[in-house]
Amino acid sequence: MAQRLPVFQNFIDELRAIWAAEPDMATRMERAKPVLERLVMDAELKERSKTWPSTEGRKNLLLYVDEEHEFAVNAVVRVPGRTGSVHDHANAWVLYGVVDGTESLERWERVDDGSKAGFAEVKLKSVTTGSQGKVDIVPPYDIHSEQGGPTRSAALILRSQRLGEGTVLQKQFDPKTGAIKEQYGPTQVPFELTM
Ligand SMILES: [Fe+2]
Repeated sequence: MAQRLPVFQNFIDELRAIWAAEPDMATRMERAKPVLERLVMDAELKERSKTWPSTEGRKNLLLYVDEEHEFAVNAVVRVPGRTGSVHDHANAWVLYGVVDGTESLERWERVDDGSKAGFAEVKLKSVTTGSQGKVDIVPPYDIHSEQGGPTRSAALILRSQRLGEGTVLQKQFDPKTGAIKEQYGPTQVPFELTM
């Protein structure tokens, strides 16, 4: 097997050390945030990301899954002007780090009392836009949306567990109709970051 890109191998090694030393998932993700910030600032990684395939059609590149600690690293490549759905990640923690281009993270909140089955009223709470180096943390069940910028963009995602087909059902919210849809996360496309 080809050798992993050294900067990416270092990232995995640092995460494995954090996961081994710290049992609390919130603390793990807080400690992983500056590690991901360093990785996404890497000039070679940014250059490489320009060759990554588009993940249009609800896909994620699956770069790594840790067999011992279960965290997973994904990449997404958005086409210019990509609009994202409003969703949660069920019980998973997620860090989003922008590598190239710009992306916005919208944070939404649920304002109804949850008494009507299959229905939720959600309101936009905040929007933050960032370029290379920006990392956002999304806790379990937080409702949010990732929006593409005016150009192609690439991002790395650290998840506390692998998501996608056959894992955990996530909720998708329609802000216009209030409909809630339950579905698996993006299709996972194996992709190696090698030398
Ligand atoms: Fe998300």
